[in-house]
Amino acid sequence: MEDNAQPPHRPGGGASHPDRSSGVDPNAGPAEAADSGFSVRRSSELLRRIRRSEALIDARPGLYFTGYERIGGYPVFIDRAKGAKLKDVDGNIYTDYLLGFGSVVLGHADVRVNAAVVAALERGVNPSLLDRSHLELAERMVELVPAADCVTFLKTGSDAVDAAVRLARAVTGRQRVLHYGYHGWHDWCSASPGVPPAGKTLLHSLRYNAPEDAEALFAAHPGEIACVVMMPYEIEAPAPGYLQAMRAIAHRHGALFILDEVRSGFRIGLGGAQTHFDVTPDLTAFGKAMANGHAISALAGRREIMARILDLGLTVTYFRSPDAMAAAMATLETLEQDDVPARLALLGARLMAGLDEAAHQTGTPARAVGLPATPFLRFEHAREADRDKAIRLFCNAMLSQGHLMTPAHHWFVCAAMREADIDQTVQAARQAFQMLQRML
Ligand SMILES: Cc1ncc(COP(=O)(O)O)c(C=O)c1O
Repeated sequence: MEDNAQPPHRPGGGASHPDRSSGVDPNAGPAEAADSGFSVRRSSELLRRIRRSEALIDARPGLYFTGYERIGGYPVFIDRAKGAKLKDVDGNIYTDYLLGFGSVVLGHADVRVNAAVVAALERGVNPSLLDRSHLELAERMVELVPAADCVTFLKTGSDAVDAAVRLARAVTGRQRVLHYGYHGWHDWCSASPGVPPAGKTLLHSLRYNAPEDAEALFAAHPGEIACVVMMPYEIEAPAPGYLQAMRAIAHRHGALFILDEVRSGFRIGLGGAQTHFDVTPDLTAFGKAMANGHAISALAGRREIMARILDLGLTVTYFRSPDAMAAAMATLETLEQDDVPARLALLGARLMAGLDEAAHQTGTPARAVGLPATPFLRFEHAREADRDKAIRLFCNAMLSQGHLMTPAHHWFVCAAMREADIDQTVQAARQAFQMLQRML
């Protein structure tokens, strides 16, 4: 599969369907999708097989797989991922704006990362004790992230944020936590069935860009709040001074200020969003983009706080995997050598400008929002139900033209994307907007 393959592309056939220019029905189920030029025969067979099988519980969220019915799309089962492109089991090709939910920052199956991982595999995947890659990666991260005096490694983003919160509770002797954003599936931040109710009462949600929420909660629970943990941004950038104000409020009340950079880390700057927005957290959780899709996360922070981590029983059988360390080293090196954050900003800005222009030209009430590396499209219909329907229809129309975007989450760009990929996506968006005019 070529990095610059033209979406959509069917096996043994022409690059695009003759009806492509007229758009496709985003409500199409598998049969209709096939009629409109997309074959999803093998995907549908796989779906039927999975449903018949008792072996796999497929309830985990995975858009265009388990979630596809909810958004009116059709199932997509991936056969290969290379660069910015995905090829499904039916041979359809998509430009991937989900990118392993933000973990793939260079592009899928990057040759430099693959070579580093293969070399590490040859040396053994779990060598019982530490090896040199552990030290090298820690030193590299401390160089890159000014707020990191030292680092410890875990496997998932959920691990890293959970460890940060446990550490904050241990250091302060307090239990309550103020938070903004998504931090994973662990008990401390989940309201799902099965989580003990006592834990839920210790977590308080903050609105974004509203420091008065934190002030009010600190006033209501004096001496009880261990930390403020937050994503530095999700879609909108922080208001000037907001992150600094949150840090100051936390410190004034004896709490730690923790940034969850699992999603933002290494995408908008090599020092994390914290360097970009000039704020210094006590602790930071990293994951996702640090290893271009390989499973590794990190908790970094101030030495005197991190020193207490040894008391927390934070052992993980796989924490020393040299293959993941090698993937992270190769990723960080490439991010720096190729100045990937600058490239992502350019690509994302091109996409956002194109989407805005297409929306304007077609009279669609929509605008591109977010930081360029993590762009999204916001519809501005008066009624929430229309906005919700519009983004779902839009993403389905994009999927049917070979551009994988989710309505439920902002999107990502990666270094393997070319300007031509972005321009094709904008062209497809124009058609999707025209089609939406007829459907809303
Ligand atoms: C900001 C943030 N924190 C934490 C997590 C949890 O990471 P993981 O899914 O690797 O456990 C995510 C995952 O999407 C995230 O976006």
